[in-house]
Amino acid sequence: MTSTPLRVVVLGQGYVGLPLALRAAEVGHAVVGVDVDARRADDLAAGRSYVGDVSDERLVSALVSGRYRATDDVRTAGPFDVAVVTVPTPLRETLPDLRFVESAATALAPLVRRGSTVVLESTTSPGTTAEVLVPLLESGSGLRAGADFSVGYSPERIDPGNVRWTFETTPKIVSGIDALSLERVSRFYEGLVDTVVPVSGTREAELAKLLENTFRHVNIALVNELAMAAHELGVDAREAIEAAGTKPFGFMKFLPGPGVGGHCLPVDPTYLSWEVRRKLGRPFRFVELANEVNEGMPAHVVERAEALLNDRSTAVRGAGVLIVGLTYKPDTSDARESPALRVAELLRLKGARVSAVDPFVAAADWPVGVERVESTTAARDADLTIVLTPHAQLDLTPLEGCQVLDTRGVVGLREAVRL
Ligand SMILES: NC(=O)c1ccc[n+]([C@@H]2O[C@H](COP(=O)([O-])OP(=O)(O)OC[C@H]3O[C@@H](n4cnc5c(N)ncnc54)[C@H](O)[C@@H]3O)[C@@H](O)[C@H]2O)c1
Repeated sequence: MTSTPLRVVVLGQGYVGLPLALRAAEVGHAVVGVDVDARRADDLAAGRSYVGDVSDERLVSALVSGRYRATDDVRTAGPFDVAVVTVPTPLRETLPDLRFVESAATALAPLVRRGSTVVLESTTSPGTTAEVLVPLLESGSGLRAGADFSVGYSPERIDPGNVRWTFETTPKIVSGIDALSLERVSRFYEGLVDTVVPVSGTREAELAKLLENTFRHVNIALVNELAMAAHELGVDAREAIEAAGTKPFGFMKFLPGPGVGGHCLPVDPTYLSWEVRRKLGRPFRFVELANEVNEGMPAHVVERAEALLNDRSTAVRGAGVLIVGLTYKPDTSDARESPALRVAELLRLKGARVSAVDPFVAAADWPVGVERVESTTAARDADLTIVLTPHAQLDLTPLEGCQVLDTRGVVGLREAVRL
């Protein structure tokens, strides 16, 4: 598909880096996937994928083609034409933590040659590419960004589990530190995805990604607060939201739920508020308010659960509570920052006997003190069932006749109480 096969190195072989590396190999590039986690690198080399959207078959065929290999040692990756950095950008004690980006840049710098291109994909604050990545690449390579090699930023928009909008079909924003960098970054991604969207600078591309996630975070907080108020007012928030959603313009529907999870929403908006506070000395109030509302949702779910148990003269201490779904959204195996884990923990702290059903969560990620059950029929033995993450493969019909708190508005049973 691509006219010029390139030598490509992808640093970070997680949810973002692995699909990207395989796509690059599939279009004809020679790709080295680097991950500092030796266990992950070994799994990949043996054809075992730990990323839900990447099948073992797809990984094996890339390995067999000879155009993809995995390693935990970047020094063995050799010189490259294009390197893409897809390492984590988490929070450390509520503040952005760029150490992974810094260590990736430091490790990559000695491999940079004249004509190389380095692209950062990790979600981060405006300025990271120019102010953090570029100086580290320059000092480690002895070369000058722009004059000798190119640098760009292209945010990832991957939505795990989404089959309509995939890596290839989702438009990809591209940027560079100068015109040649933008041209090289655009050309590389044009060979991988259907549509690229060039923007004039790396800061604009970095901000665009933060805006996308902050927009969702804020709107989810809005409907969560609405749902809490509407409950106390005796109004059905979901019906109101569905009705408002029929407006064909000027409204976008978001639904309330037990809070936000995954790697993006609980983390990325803080990169924006931190940068505003650090450089401008003032808060970014929408982000801070949205954090407060969304972080409070698991406690609100537990309060509602306690009230339902109380209605039946049952104390939460000693009550059997079944949780349906532990991951942060349906049909993925990603339980990172999942509000369901917080709900389970809060219930346990209050003395409830908590069990959960979630076929997607591996034993290693299963929360301590929560009994694993295999089927939703366990609802029949529970005092209360809380539907938190309704995976498509979970049968909700056994919930009929049980006391149910439905945090997602998916249980079509008369007796289910909605958040
Ligand atoms: N997962 C998503 O849905 C998603 C979507 C859009 C953007 N992002 C962003 O993409 C970035 C990566 O996210 P992810 O979900 O793929 O994370 P991940 O944790 O699944 O994968 C990152 C990998 O990088 C490896 N790593 C860390 N330091 C390294 C280094 N110096 N060299 C090589 N490998 C290194 C880790 O071992 C890990 O396997 C983050 O900035 C995230 O915010 C993620």
